[in-house]
Amino acid sequence: MLKRTHTCGELRVEHTGEKVILNGWVNAYRDHGTGLIFVDMRDRYGLTQVVFDREDADQALLDAADKLRNEDCIAVEGTVRTRDGGPNPKMATGEVEVVVSRLEVLSETANPPFLPGDKAALPSEERRLRYRYMDLRRPEMQRIMMVRHRISQFARRFFDERGFLEIETPMLTKSTPEGARDFIVPSRLQPGTFYALPQSPQLFKQILMISGFDRYIQLPRCFRDEDLRADRQPDFTQIDLEMSFVDRESVLEIMEEFARSLWKEILGVEVPPLQRLTYREAMDRFGSDRPDLRYGLELVDISDLAAETDFKVFTGALGKPRGVVKAIRVPGGAEKFTRKITDGYSEFVKQFGAGGVPTVKYTAAGEFETGVAKFVAPIKDALVERLGLEPGDSVFFGADTYATVTRALGELRQQIARDLGMIPEDAWAFCWVIDFPMFEWDAETARFYALHHPFTAPRPDQLDAFMACDINDVDAVEAILSAGYDIVVNGSEIGGGSIRIHRQDVQQKVFDLIGMTREEADAKFSFLLEALQYGAPPHGGIAFGLDRLVMHLAGTDSIRDVIAFPKTQTGADLMCDAPGPVDEHQLEELHIKSTWEPEG
Ligand code: AMO
Repeated sequence: MLKRTHTCGELRVEHTGEKVILNGWVNAYRDHGTGLIFVDMRDRYGLTQVVFDREDADQALLDAADKLRNEDCIAVEGTVRTRDGGPNPKMATGEVEVVVSRLEVLSETANPPFLPGDKAALPSEERRLRYRYMDLRRPEMQRIMMVRHRISQFARRFFDERGFLEIETPMLTKSTPEGARDFIVPSRLQPGTFYALPQSPQLFKQILMISGFDRYIQLPRCFRDEDLRADRQPDFTQIDLEMSFVDRESVLEIMEEFARSLWKEILGVEVPPLQRLTYREAMDRFGSDRPDLRYGLELVDISDLAAETDFKVFTGALGKPRGVVKAIRVPGGAEKFTRKITDGYSEFVKQFGAGGVPTVKYTAAGEFETGVAKFVAPIKDALVERLGLEPGDSVFFGADTYATVTRALGELRQQIARDLGMIPEDAWAFCWVIDFPMFEWDAETARFYALHHPFTAPRPDQLDAFMACDINDVDAVEAILSAGYDIVVNGSEIGGGSIRIHRQDVQQKVFDLIGMTREEADAKFSFLLEALQYGAPPHGGIAFGLDRLVMHLAGTDSIRDVIAFPKTQTGADLMCDAPGPVDEHQLEELHIKSTWEPEG
């Protein structure tokens, strides 16, 4: 084989006159009938134009060149010269070309399902995933994978320099709850039993702290069987960290330094110190625990003003337990929103449980018009002041329980920002969200859930109240704040963590509160409860979602673009056709029988 001397991204004017060998793929083939055949050769490093000269080259070489097809894998030997047709500024190698003297076809291509070099004709995502090897040849995909690599390497280097040890934890393990379903794996050696794939290495990293490793890092695969979204995969990667003898402040400090350094390293962007919002403030002002701070459109409580009106939607809502009325001011909205659009928003919020979204315009003349104008007229001056209304604005109202209004207006806020193009490009709005409640009451199942995971400690000043709280006092339990934190950028949660419980009695109390019986707690977590007895250090940590970091830093809004072999919305790998059936005898060995029957 003609072994390469240079990559396809390397040649420059200073190589002129040199004899070189390139290996790569035929990215484009052009024969203009001018006596020259042009081939753009591609590899991971770039593109180089190579030329076959019909006048000089021997016939065998020309015959071989004539047979080349896009995506053949080839090697060429030739001499570098400055480009005959003048430089091509769009290519890094655009000042030169290689005049070919030898060609070796390393591997011919079958008819390609699509051409990676053809930017204009990107096939459907289904086709891209089916032929993922071709899709990954695209320079854009290669760029994203390189960004991913740089992020992982940077993380390893950054934390290595600060004393973090990389330690692997098992994939075949026991359930580590993070709020999703487990993927389970049957054991052959112990029939009738199952491993669970880890939703995160949470318990192992805590145990590593108990074992005295002090600072841990891993880039683990995590597995969660949950409904997929644009930023979720069933099988994803974290940058997982844990530290001993720390309080919340020490963890936030080093993790913030990491995030800011990473943005600097990859994008050259200086991120200012992160602002901190309490969970309550984030929910109150932005209707979300991962607020997008790139734009305003804040939610403002006007319950006291709404109570003065005769508007049944308002007064009815205020009569409900935890009923509120809130408003969003949209600058300049009066001109932008037609009836059709505002009706659309009313429909939009219904999916979040709201009945609709009353609206009003504040005209240039300083009057309320359209929508619910007549109902809010009596509180006009107070509303104008509370919301800071300017002529030409419009207002949307949410009236319902706190939970419903928060959710509906939080979503509407984002939708309006998108619709009006209010989201600045290239802006990076980071924040920490802190002081989450430890628990949330779920009326449907009549039990508490841990808002982060059940290993999260109460904030130190809440510990006494926590230990003393009565499970029947829902308000008291919900008022307890945790030592958990999330890091958010542009409305996306890129990491979450907490200070952990390092006392067995505190851990037991959490299990009690989330309705886990002693037997259940023992069956699932006896090893943790046991380990906590043997001198567990105070510890805490965080996990960043690596895939989400790559999405932001590579500038793509699909998580499938940052994972080499991702799954579809239905959890399928279209390339290798997983999941799929297994042989009957494999199931027999595992003592497993499927009860599933195809419909019809
Ligand atoms: P958490 O569940 O918040 O915390 O996960 C940490 C981060 O992982 C990312 N992430 C995901 N990315 C892609 N697909 C998914 N399905 C997915 N789920 C989560 C998010 C999230 O912020 N053990 C704790 C961490 C800790 O307490 O230290 C944990 O896993 O970016």
